[in-house]
Amino acid sequence: MSRYLILIVVLALAATSTVLALTVEPAIGWLLVLLLPLVFLGLHDLVQRQHAIWRNYPITGHVRFLLETFRAEIRQYFIEGERDRLPFSLEQRSLVYRRAKQVNDAQPFGTIHDMDAPGAMWMPHAIQPAIIPDCDFRVMIGGPDCRQPYLASVLNISGTSFGSFGARAIMAFNHGAKLGGFAHNTGEGSISSHHRVHRGALIWQVASGYFGCRTPEGEFDPERFRQQAADPQVRMIEIKLSQGAKPGHGGVLPRAKLTPEIATARGVELDRDCISPARHSAFSSPLELMRFVDRLRTLSEGKPVGFKLAIGYRHEFMGIVKAMLETGIAPDFIVIDGSEGGTGAAPVELTNHVGMPVADGLSFAHAILTGAGLRDRVRLAASGKAISAFDLCRFHALGADYVMAARAFMFSIGCIQARMCHTNRCPTGITTQDPLRQKAIDVAEKAQRVAAFHRNTMHAMAELLAASGLGHPGDLRPHHIHVRARDGQILRGEPRFIQMAQGTLLNGSVPDPYRQDWECAQAASFTAGLQ
Ligand SMILES: Cc1cc2nc3c(=O)[nH]c(=O)nc-3n(C[C@H](O)[C@H](O)[C@H](O)COP(=O)(O)O)c2cc1C
Ligand code: SF4
Repeated sequence: MSRYLILIVVLALAATSTVLALTVEPAIGWLLVLLLPLVFLGLHDLVQRQHAIWRNYPITGHVRFLLETFRAEIRQYFIEGERDRLPFSLEQRSLVYRRAKQVNDAQPFGTIHDMDAPGAMWMPHAIQPAIIPDCDFRVMIGGPDCRQPYLASVLNISGTSFGSFGARAIMAFNHGAKLGGFAHNTGEGSISSHHRVHRGALIWQVASGYFGCRTPEGEFDPERFRQQAADPQVRMIEIKLSQGAKPGHGGVLPRAKLTPEIATARGVELDRDCISPARHSAFSSPLELMRFVDRLRTLSEGKPVGFKLAIGYRHEFMGIVKAMLETGIAPDFIVIDGSEGGTGAAPVELTNHVGMPVADGLSFAHAILTGAGLRDRVRLAASGKAISAFDLCRFHALGADYVMAARAFMFSIGCIQARMCHTNRCPTGITTQDPLRQKAIDVAEKAQRVAAFHRNTMHAMAELLAASGLGHPGDLRPHHIHVRARDGQILRGEPRFIQMAQGTLLNGSVPDPYRQDWECAQAASFTAGLQ
């Protein structure tokens, strides 16, 4: 009965107010303005059949839904611990905010990490730290077949499409990349007019929808590709094979979210959903993928061409490596994305349970390319929750030549991790097409923050490297990361990641965890062959 107490009180008050208003004081009738809506709400709750909670708890049941609406904010502002990762901790987000806003990022009083806990990581320091005069760390991307190599920063902005992002967020990223001298990946939504305003270096991503280089039927259009790729602003071309947050899944930008600008950038019709198929139509085997890489390199007049993927079946990546050996064609770069990566929207099960985490995928790809004698030809990048300079150093130690980051740069332009990117109601105006919400982004100001975050992270990286007696991220090796094991021992390097000596796979002595996969990997097919 207590469930109905509030409704009964409201009904009683409404009845009393009515009687008093009619008999004693008409002004009391004003109370009904407040009470009558509650009466109707309570009665509606009793008869409706949609929500059991409302039926059982008329009026009060709405409080639950109200609190649920603000759950993320309540948790974030009042409950969240500094190290709770949801998916990024307050400590991580604050670090980006401080570096982007150029405020003091020093930490007082000492670490809040338990350095005795299993999994704790650190870098060894040298008694004579190195002196690093310039922290603008760069790596040349472009193998022997590339005629326009790109001298990239070791930290760049990872793909986030115009479509999932609004125009101002795209402009802030690109302007920031221009100011800081690093690259901005377009994401699969292709190059929009907003990417071109500030002329920051672009990595043009070509995904299964071939947006910006497609025929009306959605096939790859070489002539349109050639025209777009000729723009000097496009410094590299990245074929997207998969994305860690939703590997094996295409995407849909619903018709309702398509604007004429998005449709123009992508080369799609406005009157239907914009589909990214789950698989490419331009190639269907590792050999064909290599020929596609070669074709894009030729069509782009020799710009670096590579691909991005999350590692799934190990034999598939090994099949691609076999295709490189068979054709003599190698991509200029490979980006390994992790299952912990972000997305505008993805099915829950795919996000939580499909694909390999970045550290495993990266060290695997590094080992296989090294074992195949191809590591010197192909630059390797990693993307997956890189926030601090230590995250970058760990990726370099595991084999990366450079790092791509999306959400760190999103924090730099104000993302508060509200996780409503798929609703078009992003509170900070980043992942929305709503022009009013986008107004929250002052492009010039946010671009400064993007550049400042990058610059201060590079500075922090230089300090880390110098403390370890190293001069460049490329000097990092697995043993530069020390890890606390479960039994309390200190391990040099992370032993779960297997190293491979140069050419190991070529002389047939394939180490055990990889032998079976290597034997059934095929250059002619993504599927596993019989052993
Ligand atoms: C809102 C959003 C949109 C994204 N769009 C793309 C995309 O179009 N293409 C792509 O390859 N990756 C996309 N990603 C994934 C990122 O590029 C990146 O690979 C992943 O988030 C891991 O990096 P991070 O942990 O630094 O965010 C997107 C991520 C987010 C958060
Ligand atoms: S503020 Fe929230 S909705 Fe906007 S980009 Fe960040 S996580 Fe997505």
